[in-house]
Amino acid sequence: MDVNFVVAAIATQGYVVLDNVLPNAHVIGLQTELTRLLQTNALKPAKVGRLNAFEMAKTVESQKIRGDATFWLEENAIENAAISAYFCAMKKLKIALNQQLMLGVDALEAHFSHYPIDAFYQKHLDQFQDSLALKTVQQQRKISSIFYLNANWQATFGGELRLYLNEETNDFCDILPIENRLVLFLSNRFWHEVKPATQTRNSIAGWFKTRDTRLD
Ligand code: OGA
Ligand code: MN
Repeated sequence: MDVNFVVAAIATQGYVVLDNVLPNAHVIGLQTELTRLLQTNALKPAKVGRLNAFEMAKTVESQKIRGDATFWLEENAIENAAISAYFCAMKKLKIALNQQLMLGVDALEAHFSHYPIDAFYQKHLDQFQDSLALKTVQQQRKISSIFYLNANWQATFGGELRLYLNEETNDFCDILPIENRLVLFLSNRFWHEVKPATQTRNSIAGWFKTRDTRLD
């Protein structure tokens, strides 16, 4: 991955689409691991926003907004070579983003994501809306990343990531979720949605985020 190209693209247009990001063996390793996790029912219905005591109600509510199931990846508890390779590539990117754009990102949070047939994710921003109500400014997502794992994906399947480039003109670009493609964009700038597909759709969603900061 050409990190300098990535940083330059983020600096000028706020987003970038990269193909052939990881060696094939690791892409297959990630697909294999996700398949294994799906078979053991390890993925759980995704949620929206930060959760509290009303988890269940919120999960049900979330299903109308997003239909994927997720499995959070632990960077420190990894014994899988492909997952390590993913985190390693993202770490190189993080260092370059911090050095050249001074984004102050501290960590990457990432999960496998599996969309069943016809599942979608309505138009949204990746930053939580609740930070001001809290005593701490919680970790903010600065850069969103999606790494796709779908072999032989065809345009006719749907499942595009629709990235809204300009809120006023409603301009957008549609990005197909093809295998070994990485999309990065500024989390606070780009509204986006996932269109339904005629096939299941797999990815790793990741967010470079800042540290918690106390306000008082
Ligand atoms: C998300 C998201 C986009 C995609 O998980 O927040 O917007 O293409 N995913 O899967
Ligand atoms: Mn999103």
